[in-house]
Amino acid sequence: MRNYTTATIRPQYHNAITEWQQHNFPELAMLEKYWDKFFPGQTPFKLYAKIGELKSNLIEYGRFAGRPKFERAGDMQGNMFYTARDIIKAQCSTELGSIQQHRLTLERATTDEAKFAVLRIMAEELRHAYQMFWVLDHDPTWKKSGHSDVAAETIEELLSMELGTHVLDAFNIEFNDFLDNVVYATVIDLVGKYQLDMQKVFSYAPVARSMGPMFSEEGFHLGSGRKILKEIAVAATRGTGEYSIEDVQRAINQWYPRGLEMFGNELGGETNVLFGFKDKTNGVAQNEYIAEVQMVIDNTNLAIAQVYHQGAPIPELRKLIGDIMTSGEPKGGLAPENFVFLPSNKFFRKRGPEGIAFQPYDVHGELLTMTFQPISPAQYIDYLKTVLPAKFIASREFAKYVQQMNDFHEWAASQSGFALN
Ligand SMILES: [Fe+2]
Ligand SMILES: [Fe+2]
Repeated sequence: MRNYTTATIRPQYHNAITEWQQHNFPELAMLEKYWDKFFPGQTPFKLYAKIGELKSNLIEYGRFAGRPKFERAGDMQGNMFYTARDIIKAQCSTELGSIQQHRLTLERATTDEAKFAVLRIMAEELRHAYQMFWVLDHDPTWKKSGHSDVAAETIEELLSMELGTHVLDAFNIEFNDFLDNVVYATVIDLVGKYQLDMQKVFSYAPVARSMGPMFSEEGFHLGSGRKILKEIAVAATRGTGEYSIEDVQRAINQWYPRGLEMFGNELGGETNVLFGFKDKTNGVAQNEYIAEVQMVIDNTNLAIAQVYHQGAPIPELRKLIGDIMTSGEPKGGLAPENFVFLPSNKFFRKRGPEGIAFQPYDVHGELLTMTFQPISPAQYIDYLKTVLPAKFIASREFAKYVQQMNDFHEWAASQSGFALN
């Protein structure tokens, strides 16, 4: 039994997003053609909004707790109105950006199953974008008297975004191989799951009603990522397939810091709780996320260990992996290099608390120093080349990072009155 009703948006925007799809995701037709072969018995994909039920008609968190949820955007005042718009816009940008990213390397899929899993993820992300359009389109009060038409402007802006102009950094990174599709579905979609879950309480009711159905679909994205990641790690261990364990590690190193930053500064997020938009602050959600990524890493490592020790009891294998990874020493014929690990949350950060963003931390969370001083940005870039994928190092987004890091350090030097080397 489905617990939602459906709706379409006005033809002008329905046609605009369909046109966007034909340009950015023409492979949707192939998914529709073979849906029953890859997803037998499952409801075929359809582009519409799914409107779920509210957990509570009353605002659950913050300043307006206990009052009825806002049904009209126009009833939200000042900052709250624009912060809601920013959240909807950022959410929708992630949906559209991820389609543009997945498509780049879709043809590199390791199996037909993996390819159709990615096609389904792309289709569902398209529906999620459509859902955000519905939020903006069905409520005429996004156009407040005396203000511009916020809905129309936001939709237009979203439809024109390309890789490089999306709201969040993670959605501007170009994919270079299929490992990106897989690690991304594992690490980046998982942040999506946390955001959707937190926003089930959203004090503006149309957003809250949108979250349940989107959250359920996200489960397939995460599950597919984890399953294919394991397959790739096992193939790497057997010496078959296109990727090595080191390739997998470098892909994790590339994506995980951007995932951490999608929560916003880990010391902030109170405003969203105050407005009743989310039920947790950034740091609380980010900590839960870190623990869940660690669990995915542990399960991937278990699959790797099972290649070497087929049929061994699982608790024994988990203990063996734990011993190897905490001591950094080989044991039972296996060594740390045979496995993957979760990088430190200080590694390769460009946003976040002072003392972490743009500081030269290594993957283990050690501050890299030379003669008792943190190493220079140039030296840190040399280090990053040893732990990130070579194709990513050559990318536009990495060049942007280098520029931002240099700007940051120049600014910091000007503040403290002496130049860094
Ligand atoms: Fe999504
Ligand atoms: Fe997703």
